[in-house]
Amino acid sequence: MIGVFDSGVGGLSVWREVVRLIPDAPTIYLADQAHIPYGGRSLDEVRALTLRAAGWLIERGCGVIVIACNTASAAALEALRMTFPATPFVGMEPAIKPAALHTRTGVVGVLATPATFRSARYAGLVSRWGSHLRVIEQPCPGWVEAVERLPAYANGAGDADLRRLVGDYVEPLLAQGADTLVLGCTHFPFLRPWIEQAIGTWQAAHPGAHSATIIDPAPAVARRTRQVWLERTPSANGTPAHEFWTTGSAGQFAQVASALLGCPTPARSLTL
Ligand code: DGL
Repeated sequence: MIGVFDSGVGGLSVWREVVRLIPDAPTIYLADQAHIPYGGRSLDEVRALTLRAAGWLIERGCGVIVIACNTASAAALEALRMTFPATPFVGMEPAIKPAALHTRTGVVGVLATPATFRSARYAGLVSRWGSHLRVIEQPCPGWVEAVERLPAYANGAGDADLRRLVGDYVEPLLAQGADTLVLGCTHFPFLRPWIEQAIGTWQAAHPGAHSATIIDPAPAVARRTRQVWLERTPSANGTPAHEFWTTGSAGQFAQVASALLGCPTPARSLTL
């Protein structure tokens, strides 16, 4: 089984790519919604929470675990590998390297949580791949919370609120010359339509200005997961089972997740 972990529903942006690429693999998705958002917590706290979650996934029989959360990966990946050496972990990191290869203006905007920006892992990435660039760090207060209740924005008034919330953080990046936006939090791909709208609005107001490309590392993470999975598991037949668990409200998770994924996601709750 493949375990997929995030603080909330954001990791489903990775889960859907994993399931698309490895359709015969059974999965368990675990959301630690009792402790969301991770992005405002200390790295020590996030590490402890992530270790506990991974321990539970291993007990349930997961042979490969995807940490579908940039914040948890930044805080805990080394500790996870040391604590559970028999389990391969696939982690996430802001896609600074692909962004460095892509940018033409030399300005890259990274959208991620404050905890991710504080981590040594992030600093290492920027010094390795982004030292010749201007890398603008943009924490996006309110975005994770918005995705956690995205169906509530389905009506007209909610959509306008969301447009404002997203535009407030995207437009300043474009105004500073960013032509590449890195989604460094797994919740953010679910805001892609609003991010694209913000780019379109800015371009319409600045004819002739550069456009911007959005980089989501989820497909690359799914490809890496497939590689690790195939090394360890002979291919299976039949339709695999997918379980969804949360430390928060199962009903709330199921409602939001099914809206985000467009398929039923019956969930169960647990206490870690
Ligand atoms: N989805 C998580 C990430 O990729 C962060 C969400 C949170 O702040 O809990 O960083």
